Amino acid sequence: MSSIPTTQRAWRNVARGLPKDALQLVTDLPVPTELKPGYVLVKVEAAALNPIGYKLMKLLPNSVAGRPLTAEQDLAGVIVNGNGTKWSDGDAVMCFNPKGALAEYIAVPAAQCGRRPANITPVEAAGVPVCALTAHKALFEAAHLQEGQSLLINGGSTSVGAFAIQLAKAKGVKVTAIASGKNEEFCRKFGADEFIDYKEVDVPRYLSKNPPAILYNVILDAVGSTDPALYNHSCDYLAPGGVFVSVGPQPQGLADVPKFTRLLVDIATPKWLGGVRGKWTVISLKPDGKTEGMLEEISTLITEEKVKPVVDSVFTFEDTLKAYDRSMTGRATGKVVIKVVDAERIID
Ligand SMILES: NC(=O)c1ccc[n+]([C@@H]2O[C@H](COP(=O)([O-])OP(=O)(O)OC[C@H]3O[C@@H](n4cnc5c(N)ncnc54)[C@H](OP(=O)(O)O)[C@@H]3O)[C@@H](O)[C@H]2O)c1
Repeated sequence: MSSIPTTQRAWRNVARGLPKDALQLVTDLPVPTELKPGYVLVKVEAAALNPIGYKLMKLLPNSVAGRPLTAEQDLAGVIVNGNGTKWSDGDAVMCFNPKGALAEYIAVPAAQCGRRPANITPVEAAGVPVCALTAHKALFEAAHLQEGQSLLINGGSTSVGAFAIQLAKAKGVKVTAIASGKNEEFCRKFGADEFIDYKEVDVPRYLSKNPPAILYNVILDAVGSTDPALYNHSCDYLAPGGVFVSVGPQPQGLADVPKFTRLLVDIATPKWLGGVRGKWTVISLKPDGKTEGMLEEISTLITEEKVKPVVDSVFTFEDTLKAYDRSMTGRATGKVVIKVVDAERIID
């Protein structure tokens, strides 16, 4: 194991704004030396972007965000100090760390690290934790999706959606994916049985007129849409007792506020006052007592090739701002990943 330096490079979020204004590449950030009990030190090989990263950069004032801080939450690397935990030096891991990922060395709670399966590279692994955990939590913890049931995913080509398709198929669930026509093959490749092109049809109206023979048990909004229509019409296509679960409706600007307000009113209206029959729920991914077990389950599914990572594009550490530009298009199919160490030094 090469010696650990005292300082490192890191992308630090130093201000509120767009990544080009809010991020700074520093070269002298101290490498953590004193690890708290339960923490390990990971030498980062790759890190992945998540939309919440640039959204919070733009939204939160410094005092609320706690800046300066190391950006992002998803990383893959090698343990260089197991610190008496279950991890040993040299173990390959993928980690969910809301306290930062875009640096050469990160201290992470051991329970937020999962084994990196040997059949995927660090670049592929870096994009797994946040989106696979989100999909897992939404489907099985929030909506209690069961084998043999039927699932509708709004946003089958989002990274969360792609993991949701695969996790549901691994469980023996029938999946219908909604995405734009150009991403039909992407959704089908991951196992979607049925496909609806949201650019061709008004999906809630289409499904109201053409409900599936077996109504959906779960609808997952993996886009974070503020449009209430898919939920409002769901009594036509969501089975009694079914659940509508959202990754969190996020207004994109002022134009979205009326729809968002309507959605909040509709969710709050009880059925006896004319509200929607189906249960609406939202998830927010945070490390908890289930994170470790879920990461282990996801690692096993990847090892068994029941779940595959989804990579849209790969950037060098220096080109991190270009990576944010790609992520902010909202058109990526899979994860936007940053190689933190040189390509040839990544252990594949
Ligand atoms: N609650 C949580 O804890 C949590 C955790 C992770 C992510 N999230 C949220 O989950 C959402 C998805 O994140 P992600 O990382 O998976 O996104 P992503 O991979 O960046 O999503 C990009 C994809 O979204 C598709 N898309 C955009 N608008 C769409 C629409 N109206 N209908 C259907 N597809 C659409 C695009 O396909 P087209 O080009 O075909 O439109 C593109 O393939 C984000 O809002 C994110 O903030 C929440």
